[in-house]
Amino acid sequence: MAELLLAKGYEVHGIVRRVAIEDPEHRLVRLEAVRSRIKLHAASLESYASIHQVVANVLPEECYHLAAQSFVSYSFDDEFSTLNANVNGTHFMLAAVKNVVPECRFYFAGSSEMFGKAEEVPQTGRTRFHPRSTYGISKVAGFDLTRNYREAYGMHASSGILFNHESPRRGYEFVTRKITSGVARIAAGRSTELRLGNLDAKRDWGHAREYVEAMWLMLQQDQPDDYVIATGETHTVQEFVELAFAHVGLDYRNYVTPDPDLFRPAEVNLLLGDASYAKNRLRWSHVVAFEALVREMVEADCRTLGVQAKVRSMV
Ligand code: GDD
Repeated sequence: MAELLLAKGYEVHGIVRRVAIEDPEHRLVRLEAVRSRIKLHAASLESYASIHQVVANVLPEECYHLAAQSFVSYSFDDEFSTLNANVNGTHFMLAAVKNVVPECRFYFAGSSEMFGKAEEVPQTGRTRFHPRSTYGISKVAGFDLTRNYREAYGMHASSGILFNHESPRRGYEFVTRKITSGVARIAAGRSTELRLGNLDAKRDWGHAREYVEAMWLMLQQDQPDDYVIATGETHTVQEFVELAFAHVGLDYRNYVTPDPDLFRPAEVNLLLGDASYAKNRLRWSHVVAFEALVREMVEADCRTLGVQAKVRSMV
């Protein structure tokens, strides 16, 4: 997001926790490409005062609220901190913007996890929410808060209901990066096994670089609104695994071990989004195909470990 905004000539400010500012080598490693060109402020989603202060110092014209406890699995381990950070954090952001810079355009990162046990396929902006985790519940609450600030206070506040979006910068705990980094380690001879949970879950995976374009477009519209952002294609975790291993010339069946501990107490089995509203209104569409996304992530992790990926036809 920061890269996109810088390329468009924006002055970019970001909020990080104080511990991250004090330990940038470890905590801010994924901001490396932009760190010298953005201004970071210490604040916490748990403190209204800290957020209010940053908003008052920066006086932003656009605010992209992407911060959250975003790992669904972890939300089963600590429901309380997930709800606290995600619901109150969003409320604090909205309230600070409303109180200090009410003209500021606001983006809320909604999630396809809000559809959860989806009642229809594909999911659109009219599909009912049935979240399956406190993470999903917290995103529904954030979505409702955002809409309420729009309706009650006339704020230009929009939500993107984004389906899974990935890139080589993805955190290692999410399944795509866990797989591609695991494949690279196995290809490098540093590991012999990859433990995974539910291989049958289906996700609509797109490229994060294209999804941030959609967020930006939402805030350039005259009227605020809510949009589903997705590719319209769904694949199982197993398909991702097969392609990733095939890319280094290996058969996943020799390395993947099922681990019952990695299954979730309540799973979201099938996500498939219909982004036609965003296509019509924002003129947004995705280009990067599933195979290209897997390849880019495997190659990036292989490069880091000095492994040459054997390019094979990925059917
Ligand atoms: N993380 C993980 N680790 N997931 C696994 C594993 C494993 O070892 N094995 C199987 N899976 C399955 C999960 O059960 C899930 O069905 C699927 O892989 C994807 O899991 P994640 O990559 O952790 O992502 P997510 O779909 O739960 O959530 C992501 O996408 C949402 C948008 O739909 C996150 O980025 C959320 O923050 C985001 O809102």
